[in-house]
Amino acid sequence: MNQFTSVKDVADIDQLVKDALALKESPYGHQHLGKNKTLGLVFLNPSLRTRLSTQKGAINLGMSVMVMNMDKEGWALETEDGVVMNGTTVEHIREAAAVMGQYCDILGLRSFPKLTNRDEDYNEDFFNKFIKYCGVPVVSLESATRHPLQSLADLVTIRETWKGETKPKVVLAWAPHVKALPQAVPNSFSEWMCKAQKEGMLDFTVVQPEGYELSEDFTPGANIMYNLEEALQGADYIYVKNWSSFKEYGKVLTYPEGWMMNNEKLKGTNNAKVMHCLPVRRDLELSSEILDGPNSLVIHEAGNRLWAAQAVLKDLLQNLS
Ligand code: CP
Repeated sequence: MNQFTSVKDVADIDQLVKDALALKESPYGHQHLGKNKTLGLVFLNPSLRTRLSTQKGAINLGMSVMVMNMDKEGWALETEDGVVMNGTTVEHIREAAAVMGQYCDILGLRSFPKLTNRDEDYNEDFFNKFIKYCGVPVVSLESATRHPLQSLADLVTIRETWKGETKPKVVLAWAPHVKALPQAVPNSFSEWMCKAQKEGMLDFTVVQPEGYELSEDFTPGANIMYNLEEALQGADYIYVKNWSSFKEYGKVLTYPEGWMMNNEKLKGTNNAKVMHCLPVRRDLELSSEILDGPNSLVIHEAGNRLWAAQAVLKDLLQNLS
């Protein structure tokens, strides 16, 4: 790989999952790769898991890490070309990204969508400009439309925990929230699960209320359903997540009843394991009884963020020219 921004950057997802699980068994065997190499992590939005797991993965590989909280500590960035910068923006992304590329061998970037203009967000203008001008390999720490490090950790978690004889049934289930959240995590999860389904690893269903359908670009081959109880029948894994509407872009539509995941809803499943990318709103998206009970995989899943990040960084280091 020479960048990691979506599943499309990965030639062999099965091999990347195996690499992550091998690093979990033996984390410190590749420190020669990161010696005298620097990872820069650039955040325009908050983070706990992505920040710490990616730093730790880099440290395990012998890299040095620098973190820039661009939203709080950096200059206000201009992204439009051809504007006279006589307003509030102080530095153009052309210079800012290029300078960061001078100091770092690999850069990670987190930049959420504004959720006001669908085309602007789905064009990934900011991310693409950052990649273009920084001149070094870029790892997505979550963009406007995708969160591939999370999705890789999710696939690692499913592969690691599935002990059944047949393919597991994986269900991505919409859940309520009080805020309008991006589609990045469910888009990305769906994109990775659809690829895993195509490669015969699992069966994948997305269930959501009317109006919350994801972009079809991210759900090729997925079984799309609207009835939560029916969708959960026989499920082995349930991935709980809220997202705002793609059709009525960025909006929270009428607040549907009965979508919070709880133990009652697990009754028709194959004693399903429950996943969530975190942070989670307890007893709004997911019940405390699930989070504190035997079906929850959320901490295990968050732990695997480290091995996912380390596997990606290892691959990028091996391909540095
Ligand atoms: N799941 C996830 O990306 O967590 P953070 O936003 O805390 O990094």
